[in-house]
Amino acid sequence: MSEKSASLPRILVLATGGTIAGMAGSATRHEYRPGQISVADWLAEAAQFGMAAELTGKQIANIGSEDVGPAIWSALHSAILAAIADDAIDGIVVTHGTDTAEETAFLLDLTLPPTKPVVIVGAMRPADAVGSDGMRNFVNAVRVASDSEASGRGVVLVMGDRILAARDARKVRTRGTDDAFRGFPRGSIGLVTPAALDWFGNPWRQDDQPRFAFPAALPEVPILYIGAGMTPDLVDRILPNDPTGIVIAGVGEGNMPDPLRERLVEHAKAGLTVVRASRVDEGLVDREPEDDPNGFVAARALNPQKSRVLLQLLLANKEGDLNRVQAAFDNP
Ligand code: SIN
Repeated sequence: MSEKSASLPRILVLATGGTIAGMAGSATRHEYRPGQISVADWLAEAAQFGMAAELTGKQIANIGSEDVGPAIWSALHSAILAAIADDAIDGIVVTHGTDTAEETAFLLDLTLPPTKPVVIVGAMRPADAVGSDGMRNFVNAVRVASDSEASGRGVVLVMGDRILAARDARKVRTRGTDDAFRGFPRGSIGLVTPAALDWFGNPWRQDDQPRFAFPAALPEVPILYIGAGMTPDLVDRILPNDPTGIVIAGVGEGNMPDPLRERLVEHAKAGLTVVRASRVDEGLVDREPEDDPNGFVAARALNPQKSRVLLQLLLANKEGDLNRVQAAFDNP
């Protein structure tokens, strides 16, 4: 190893697939297949950009992120924990489909120590599209993972030259590159290009312990998306056998029709943990006075899919006490 390469940050790339590894076969076709390019081929292609980092890769999966779930999360979690413990690795980049990247990022954020940079990155356009964003996002992600100030911020997501904290990152567009992801309630915590990196503010996570143990299994937690006039029967139809929790993607500030609420109150009294989130893109769902007698939890700044991840972790860790569940949502 040359003296120069010995001093370069050593970045482990964990590849899971998605559009960043996708191919259309033709620059003028809309349809494409995610998860076509191997991490080895990707890193060979990336080598031409002369990044100031030494990259090694591991293929965790090569799939569309609609199929990412507990098995992939578990494999990623183990690989990242091993990398965090490995003195020969300075930072970790995870390539991932954008559809569920926010869930993977948040789950990892809640279950990993914040001691080394962990960066999730994807692309809105496949690798062979005109104006593909994958390699730029990837080069940006490597820059972030190589930065000495990146740790202590938890897992971050890099898309469209922005750095978003896992807790805040949301996919807000089905197409397009620049504004596909947004942060809420915090916007970008930094900006990055292949040539420059700026953080807004200092690292805020001084703890070196994960917030949750990574569980052996995650309970199924459905999300009920409320529409005007929905009837209570839907609650019973959507609940699995032996349900432990449900997230309501309510109208406005987590509201729902009265008869449906009453059915949920019955379930809550029988032990179901009910979290009120909102189907509205941006906005807080605060606790209301009725949440106490109803036995409900308010999602605060978390959207329904992030609420589901947090509730799954809480329930898997046997946390059903409503005050403590609410506290976890108040301060995710
Ligand atoms: C996926 O999430 O795997 C497909 C969409 C994307 O990566 O942008």
